[in-house]
Amino acid sequence: MRYIIDCDPGHDDAVAILLAARALTISGVTTVYGNAPVELTTRNALGFLDMAGLDIPVFRGSGTPLQRSRIDANVHGRSGLDGAQLPASSRQPEITSAIDFIAEQASLPGGVSIIATGPLTNLARALSAYSHIESGIASLSVMGGSAGPGNTTPMAEFNACSDPEALDIVLASAIPMYMVGYDITSRTGFTESQIDCLETSGHRVASFIGKVMRFYRARQLAVTGLDIAPQHDACAVLPYLQPSLATYTDYRAAVELAGSLTTGMVVFDRRPGEMQRSRPSPFAGRRPVKLCTALKNSEVINMILSAIIDYP
Ligand code: BDR
Ligand code: CA
Repeated sequence: MRYIIDCDPGHDDAVAILLAARALTISGVTTVYGNAPVELTTRNALGFLDMAGLDIPVFRGSGTPLQRSRIDANVHGRSGLDGAQLPASSRQPEITSAIDFIAEQASLPGGVSIIATGPLTNLARALSAYSHIESGIASLSVMGGSAGPGNTTPMAEFNACSDPEALDIVLASAIPMYMVGYDITSRTGFTESQIDCLETSGHRVASFIGKVMRFYRARQLAVTGLDIAPQHDACAVLPYLQPSLATYTDYRAAVELAGSLTTGMVVFDRRPGEMQRSRPSPFAGRRPVKLCTALKNSEVINMILSAIIDYP
């Protein structure tokens, strides 16, 4: 299977890229605004791939949400990947846009699977512009939403809140989909001593990740109260890497688009089947998503740490 990583690097996006690229065939990285403007997330993607010696093409994507203004994540610094300087890449993004690249890959025999770790704008635009590609997306794994509190508003998580309309378009599609939300990913992160290990490992990529994670952990503590460097986005790679480390349950889902308090909240219909049938939700006809409801945290973190420390 071919994979696309659709992302906004982003500290945790960078780790997700590394983790995925070690084990999967990545045909391209598509970028989107999110943790920083798209010019910067694209620059970060190119610079990080170069540093890791990964010759994966980068396709620049959307600079703004479908209908709203861009919001600021506020934990990744001005560059989107603060904490250490990435050497400037000698490469440029490809001429093809992220949206056209997604459509191209989905049109190939066998299709493509997508790991999405930023706002869903690129995929929503691709689905709207090329309706025939839906069946060519073999599966999708999204870091976004929350089955508990949000990190951006009381109920909305950053990727979902950045472009709620886009995520809702994706949820309304027939694409087989995994989702892991902030309620789960916010418990899966690097501690201070794990960051020390990365930084002092003597390996170039690990030491870069250690440095940027130190910045990210400090920002998380100041802004969200988490005293770890959460690896939200790596959790979206798990279904394709080690599905046994997570538990998934099928729920139909939609995004609140007009709530006065809850815009950007992902609503999962977790009611018993009888109740869903007798009192159907407005999104009862949707294909259920596989929502991650539990994760083996320490095993996941050890797997991510070894993938970074052993990185050649
Ligand atoms: C998500 O928002 C971003 O800041 C992270 O990269 C992650 O994708 C977590 O809410
Ligand atoms: Ca991200």
